Amino acid sequence: MSGSNSKRKRSKSPSKPLELETAKLGFIGSGKMTESLVNGFIDYGKVDKKRIFISAPTEKNSIRFKEKGCNITKRNYDIFGKFDCDVIFICCPGSVVLDCLRDPKRPHPLCTNFIPLTSKDKYIFSLVSGVKLTQLQTVLLNPDHKGKYIIEMHRIVINPACAYGLGICAIDVEPDSNKLSASLRTLLSTISKLEHVPEEQMDAACAICGAGLAFVYCFIKAMADGALKAGLDRSIAIKFAAKTLQCAAQSLLETGKHPGELRDHVCAPGGPAIEGINKMNNLDLNGSIISAVEKSKDFAFKLLTAKP
Ligand SMILES: NC(=O)c1ccc[n+]([C@@H]2O[C@H](COP(=O)([O-])OP(=O)(O)OC[C@H]3O[C@@H](n4cnc5c(N)ncnc54)[C@H](OP(=O)(O)O)[C@@H]3O)[C@@H](O)[C@H]2O)c1
Repeated sequence: MSGSNSKRKRSKSPSKPLELETAKLGFIGSGKMTESLVNGFIDYGKVDKKRIFISAPTEKNSIRFKEKGCNITKRNYDIFGKFDCDVIFICCPGSVVLDCLRDPKRPHPLCTNFIPLTSKDKYIFSLVSGVKLTQLQTVLLNPDHKGKYIIEMHRIVINPACAYGLGICAIDVEPDSNKLSASLRTLLSTISKLEHVPEEQMDAACAICGAGLAFVYCFIKAMADGALKAGLDRSIAIKFAAKTLQCAAQSLLETGKHPGELRDHVCAPGGPAIEGINKMNNLDLNGSIISAVEKSKDFAFKLLTAKP
């Protein structure tokens, strides 16, 4: 089994390549992450809606996917059984998985039974924060069939910009190595750039690339408000704030320079940039952002013990 933390031999890795043109994509959970992934795959991965299958206990969110032309169910087991999906994204709350581990009696809230043994290869991605792959394997894979499942399983964190084909995806293996099937690399690359992050750092990665996207939108809005206050039209102010962020991010990524070095390059001695930075320091913007990222990671763990 692939995935950095899959030390226990619970399955074999797939040997046949996945046919992306016909592959069925399944999603457990129909919340915001599923919506970003599904929108990205339909618009940028050119995945036919009829090949998308979504399960959630209620239709309050999944109904939107049905209206789009995707298939929905209230039984998670259908994703593995009846619909026999090839690639499955687990996007339900972590508390669901932990409940299964706490009370192993079947039926489980995640899957009424262990996932069936089929001759078809399965590819599973877990987006679930705070839950290890080994924990998910315990819940999904029948120990009596140890070693018989043909599954490739990975933990990923992907940011919601994947809905626009612009995501960044942290994955538990080197994306260009044979630890990730070429077809999965192709599929994920249609909506995001892939970066290896060890599984034990995934929750920290989620705090910056998931929640962090919202923090950056706050920063853009605040920059635009500042420019508005200084007299710039609102629409231009928002566009310029966003473009400035894009320029900063792109020059940093392309030069490989440290953000402090690039900042110093912008600040003339005694000039307006350093004056503004001094104001931000006095208001402890740096400390606030560090706390926001930290808080976001801690809160994801708090949610694990909450009821969905
Ligand atoms: N960047 C990332 O990779 C990233 C970012 C944020 C979150 N996450 C993780 O991704 C997961 C989903 O996050 P989200 O923001 O999409 O959450 P969300 O919007 O709150 O949606 C949660 C979904 O899970 C469904 N659900 C609840 N119990 C379930 C069960 N027993 N079986 C199947 N589905 C169940 C809910 O069903 P109903 O529609 O019926 O309520 C809902 O559709 C979480 O584990 C979160 O920690 C990852």
